[in-house]
Amino acid sequence: MRKRIATILAAPQRGEQLQIAGWVRTRRDASGFSFIEVGDGSCLANIQVIADQTLTNYGDEIKKLSAGCSVLVTGTLQESPAKGQAVELLASEVRVLGWADPETYPLQKKHHSFEFLRNISHLRPRTNALGAVARVRSRLSYGVHSFFQERGFIQVHTPIITTSDCEGAGEMFQVTTPSAVSAAEAAAEFFGRPAGLTVSGQLQAEVYAQALGNVYTFGPTFRAENSNTSRHLAEFWMVEPEMAFCDLECNRQVAEEMLKYLIRLVLAECSEDLALFDHFIAKGLLARLQQVVDHDFAHITYSEAVEQLLQSKHSFSYPVQWGGDLQSEHERYLTETIYHRPLIVTDYPAAIKPFYMRVSDDCRTVAAMDILVPGIGEIIGGSQREERYDVLVARMQQAGIELSGYEWYLDLRRYGSVPHSGFGLGFERLVQFVTGMANIREVIPFPRTPGFAPC
Ligand code: 4AD
Ligand code: MG
Repeated sequence: MRKRIATILAAPQRGEQLQIAGWVRTRRDASGFSFIEVGDGSCLANIQVIADQTLTNYGDEIKKLSAGCSVLVTGTLQESPAKGQAVELLASEVRVLGWADPETYPLQKKHHSFEFLRNISHLRPRTNALGAVARVRSRLSYGVHSFFQERGFIQVHTPIITTSDCEGAGEMFQVTTPSAVSAAEAAAEFFGRPAGLTVSGQLQAEVYAQALGNVYTFGPTFRAENSNTSRHLAEFWMVEPEMAFCDLECNRQVAEEMLKYLIRLVLAECSEDLALFDHFIAKGLLARLQQVVDHDFAHITYSEAVEQLLQSKHSFSYPVQWGGDLQSEHERYLTETIYHRPLIVTDYPAAIKPFYMRVSDDCRTVAAMDILVPGIGEIIGGSQREERYDVLVARMQQAGIELSGYEWYLDLRRYGSVPHSGFGLGFERLVQFVTGMANIREVIPFPRTPGFAPC
């Protein structure tokens, strides 16, 4: 029976006849037989295949196998005398499915830089690190759904093509048709008005929260921001819960609980892959993640954050002053140097936050919340939403937003408006945090950044 290597190694049954299918990592010849390391992507570990010279294709094929060749191996699982592996597969047949020319196959058995691997994004998942990232990412994604589904949240598929710029930051990619004279014209022709790729599913999630209570959306989002940093992508995935009858405090609790749930999940279920990251990518990662789940997050207001940054006397590239946005260097100083743990910052100045955030009684701040984590900075951005019709209209007018495109959004405040809150978790930033990968381009299968979208 064909089996995945992860299944075999989870409960090895010595003497079992089975078949594996995968790619050759290495081949080593001894006298009268060869050791072939085969991996199939189901887990980090490979299985060692023992191919004896009595196999009919030993001389013609097996001795020519090299890294990257695909094989189908049938054999008997047996105790391995070698250190570091419990079992090995004594082959009765090794079928070569696809050759990989060792002269040209780019993944040779040597260290490749992540920059090099980015240029072969079609082959890089075959490396240990990128394969491990893919498995952890998949587990986290499943975990996002289980976290919300276990708590009765309803998933909403919000649109990818949208006509409202949620963040109001003007970073929307426009959607056009091939016959377009100009981008705006084409979009207007097709949808009757200009349309773009969504920057966030929040506004539509709000619609469903105000009908179904607790909802979430989890999908790709797009931002045409020209930031070539290790934390920005032009296409990234966002997890956005939206909760009716929930204030900022409740929002904060759900966000902290979700992050801890997801980290606990991968600590328990991706230990082999996390050990690789801990060893080769980010020393001490496991201990740091354990710390996060074991302790409460810190919480300060924006005003307190500004005060603490000023008091630190640290020299920053960007000046710190009340009213200015916290830059990445400020965020990281707070969470890494002052607090040494995840930090929730709330109550930002209204002037630097989008129109939908609820204005506080002081009229200067809004009920905003960012969660900052060491090594990354902002991983979550959220807020309580402005549920009061008049206040919302005033904020939109102040921001210069054309109200006519948002009548549907305003209707939610006209008819049965309720206090509600939500947040957005940058999914790649979470994968970065959990794996310790330095650059966000390594934690999404096919990164899109300014000037880069090869396949
Ligand atoms: O803080 P942001 O812009 O919040 C929103 O979009 C809200 N509408 C979310 C909500 O309340 N439903 O983005 C949320 C998160 C950020 O904290 C960050 O982790 C991530 O999305 N993010 C990016 N990740 C990768 N590349 C980018 N260019 C990102 N921009 C934001
Ligand atoms: Mg933000």
